[in-house]
Amino acid sequence: MSRHPTSPDHANPVQSADPTVWGIIQREQQRQQNTLELIASENHVSPAVLRAAGTVFTNKYAEGYPGKRYYGGCQHVDEIESLAIERAKRLFGCEHANVQPHSGSQANQAVFLAALTPGDPILSLNLNHGGHLSHGMKVNISGKWFNVSQYGVARKDERIDMDEVRRLAREVKPKLIITGASAYPRIWDWAGFAEIAREVGALLLADIAHIAGLVAAGLHPSPVPHAEFVTTTTHKTLRGPRAGLTMCKADWAKKIDSAVFPGLQGGPLVHIIAAKAVAFGEALRPEFKTYQQQILDNARALAEALMARKYRLVSGGTDNHLMLLDLTSGHPNLTGAQAEKWLEQAGIIVNKNMIPFDERKPMETSGLRIGTPAVTTRGLKTEHMPVIAELIHLVLSSNGDADAIDRVRSRALELCAQFPLPSES
Ligand SMILES: Cc1ncc(COP(=O)(O)O)c(C=O)c1O
Repeated sequence: MSRHPTSPDHANPVQSADPTVWGIIQREQQRQQNTLELIASENHVSPAVLRAAGTVFTNKYAEGYPGKRYYGGCQHVDEIESLAIERAKRLFGCEHANVQPHSGSQANQAVFLAALTPGDPILSLNLNHGGHLSHGMKVNISGKWFNVSQYGVARKDERIDMDEVRRLAREVKPKLIITGASAYPRIWDWAGFAEIAREVGALLLADIAHIAGLVAAGLHPSPVPHAEFVTTTTHKTLRGPRAGLTMCKADWAKKIDSAVFPGLQGGPLVHIIAAKAVAFGEALRPEFKTYQQQILDNARALAEALMARKYRLVSGGTDNHLMLLDLTSGHPNLTGAQAEKWLEQAGIIVNKNMIPFDERKPMETSGLRIGTPAVTTRGLKTEHMPVIAELIHLVLSSNGDADAIDRVRSRALELCAQFPLPSES
């Protein structure tokens, strides 16, 4: 019998078939195990989500939708996709869910394709004030194809300035108003945006990529009753596989479905849809709310501990899972890029980030974005947050001194060892 070259005759087929790839995977696993992950958009999925993503569904072509496929052999694909849709609808209380977008950007593009034509005016949050590149950045398709105007936060409190949003909306008469962010630590006023959208005849999109877990758990207000479209990634606070999800009101369902396929994508990633189904199932359980509450408690505790060390946080704190540390307060000569590097050497992973009204360039920045979803998954609690704040402080005030950074590295490693991640072998 001719066997498949990667036939699973070993407990770990990647290890036996391709030790080079397995070695790289092992090194990444060690990296994740031995560092404190504070990137606000990352998380550690459950072994069940990981396993579902690595299944035979990766073999299957399934262009189309449940019951209407362009390929034979789709009975189990239909089952898994229908289950994922049903769970997404239950989780967010939406009228329609499309679980096929490969990413958050494509989830947004589906809305653009369904609702806009090139040249249409859109209104979204300024990238330097926390917005996402798929919401109208010049070099992104959204910025190239649409006529983008952007609102921002007010200088006085660094919160979204609703008067400015209304003024701009009246002036530019957008066809679509985009809400949601990659780096905004406060609560969104969906009802306020919906009122403005209604007044100027715009459609409303809420991109909840970052806060989807909080929304699903009822710990951040839901935009679903207010917006025609709600998009998200599934891999941030929601703790699912790397992918997207587009939700909409029932009267947009057909247009959204044909925008995703055949408008934007070919065959769906059915193995990832299976992993989304598992993640949505996890998010529907009561423990998920406890997890999301802990993310919030940890973020608040970390913010307070940093502020107690005299760091300024954009808008003075956080209401969600992330905060933006303004380096210009304590370390005016230190860029976000340099701080990110030193912290990485110390085993603390964050990302440089623009702060509102930043005078530095995006590759340098004056800020750091810090989030708690991943360390919370690992089991860290509020009592560990002052320790993390101390470690961050020691690195930021080290001037890059290798010994000082090494000492923090040892302490970060000790903390990681106390909270092991499940191994993939
Ligand atoms: C608000 C928001 N929307 C969309 C995306 C895009 O997601 P993806 O990287 O999956 O395309 C992100 C990713 O960071 C995001 O923060």
